[in-house]
Amino acid sequence: MFFDTHAHLDQEEFDADRAEVIARAREEGIEAILCPAVTAASAEVVVRLAEEYDLLAAVGIHPNYTAEADPNDWDRIVELAGHPRVVAIGETGLDTYRDYSPLELQKEYFERHIKLSKSTGLPLIIHCRETEEAMLPILRAAAPLDGVLHAFSSARAFAEECLAIGLHVSFAGNVTYSNRKNDYLREVARQIPEDRLLIETDSPYLVPQAFRGRKNRNEPAYVARTAAFLAELRGVSVEQLAAVTTANARRLFGLPERV
Ligand code: NI
Repeated sequence: MFFDTHAHLDQEEFDADRAEVIARAREEGIEAILCPAVTAASAEVVVRLAEEYDLLAAVGIHPNYTAEADPNDWDRIVELAGHPRVVAIGETGLDTYRDYSPLELQKEYFERHIKLSKSTGLPLIIHCRETEEAMLPILRAAAPLDGVLHAFSSARAFAEECLAIGLHVSFAGNVTYSNRKNDYLREVARQIPEDRLLIETDSPYLVPQAFRGRKNRNEPAYVARTAAFLAELRGVSVEQLAAVTTANARRLFGLPERV
């Protein structure tokens, strides 16, 4: 029913109970989980987890980890991109919120990921944190692009630019946060065309509002909460929201329709 398009299940937060977390997601109707990598080492792990637990993987180097990457790391990403469980390139992008890596280096890696996406035909998983102005010229120069802006938190004008370039937009638990400062994000989520909308948890981060204060770790099962919230926001049933977002994810990531 649901497709969690972004869950960092390789992270240590899941070391103690990873199998249970995945089993719980299946029970809640999460039919597919895509685990993006953040480093070459992380890429090795998500590919192994995908094989072991019947998950999907994406391989790439997160902008915050580009400063510590070496040339062998990139070679390994390129190699792993050919693995049958790998359905996307990422996560990649730009992040000036955290000052972990020089912006010029982040841009260089982002452009490498874009090239790899185009040469492999695999869509991009893009992270954009407070750096829309630096990102937009790169996206425009590479248009049209297949991929998704994950855990979208930017303004409506940026969403429209991304849609025009061909990208999808994915919402995580932060769209459910009840503070007024996120009202704009709900307005963006209401207006994304149905055929470009995706959902995700960004586990272990961004716990949906319903569980905040009670759970300090997000997990794929909770994507159902974000789906229910978006359904109400958009005036459709949760079944309809689930069907549409899952079909979008299957199309974007090149997966056959469920039989
Ligand atoms: Ni992520």
